[in-house]
Amino acid sequence: MSDFITINTPLDMHVHLREKDMLKKVVKYTSTNFAGALVMPNLVSPITTKEALMNYKNEIMKLTKGDNFEPYMTLFLRDDYSREFLEEVKDDILAIKLYPAGITTNSENGAKDLRSDKMMKVFTTMSDLGITLSVHGESNGFVMDREKEFLDFFDFCAKKFPKLKIIMEHITTKDSVDFLNKYDNVFATITLHHLLITLDDVAGDMLRPHLFCKPIAKRYEDRDALLEASLNNKKVMFGSDSAPHPIHKKEACGCAAGVFSSPIAIPKLTQIFDENNKLDSLNDFISLNAKKIYNLNPIEKKINLQKKAFIVPNKYDDVVVFCANEEIPWSII
Ligand code: NCD
Ligand code: ZN
Ligand code: ZN
Repeated sequence: MSDFITINTPLDMHVHLREKDMLKKVVKYTSTNFAGALVMPNLVSPITTKEALMNYKNEIMKLTKGDNFEPYMTLFLRDDYSREFLEEVKDDILAIKLYPAGITTNSENGAKDLRSDKMMKVFTTMSDLGITLSVHGESNGFVMDREKEFLDFFDFCAKKFPKLKIIMEHITTKDSVDFLNKYDNVFATITLHHLLITLDDVAGDMLRPHLFCKPIAKRYEDRDALLEASLNNKKVMFGSDSAPHPIHKKEACGCAAGVFSSPIAIPKLTQIFDENNKLDSLNDFISLNAKKIYNLNPIEKKINLQKKAFIVPNKYDDVVVFCANEEIPWSII
């Protein structure tokens, strides 16, 4: 096996770039390592207007100039979006993101009634206009059952709107992986951290706040199913869900949810695919599947890696990174 590998046009189809100082600190880890990324809209004031959307996009473009990087934008779903408004923004976004109210970071103004008449109207328009629905799929039930309980909604929505493309974001269970087979219009993103950790890593020994995220990491059989899907299933694509919070918000009484992984995502994924003798499939997971699912035509960008170990730092600025202080056998060169 060769000690070099090239990834063509890597895409991160779910990332939190944040705003202001944090955006300035973290955006480079996405823009230098990836050709494009789907940027989540859950800012402190979520992105719900064309003006906010364009300002945010321009800010990202300004900070990433020269990196050969394309930010794909999203809007935060509201049930009062008119057809007129959606027609006006449809060419500026790749998806609209549904956050059930209060279920994760900055989702207080999320959707309260997912099956209301108003919501059905918005989904109908999205389906007509070809706008993808991206979903944080968790109920407000018992934490280990939230994703499973939400499958009901995916079932309802996929059946009722067969032309609506639906993305189950950051899936964490075997049930979700199995559900993908049920509908042609349903796809999913999988994070790096959910391929590696279970609830045992988060809370089985000492409590590890930097591994605390939504949805919470699940059981070993879930992790196995996610790995198997990432290595083989063309309906899943890489979405890091890299979600930086400053160290004082993580190492705190009341720890914020989110794992920061952008700086090390590509070398660590390369290690995982290498260890499973599936380096040939790495480009599918990290680029080609997303291109097909979203009909993307991204800018060409090659990321070269060499089998040469490096030690992950503890922090990037004031954000502790996933795999901190670990050795990763592949480096970007
Ligand atoms: C994300 C964040 O911090 O914005 N947190 C997380 O734990 N994944 C939000 C999200 O993707 O649910
Ligand atoms: Zn989420
Ligand atoms: Zn997220």
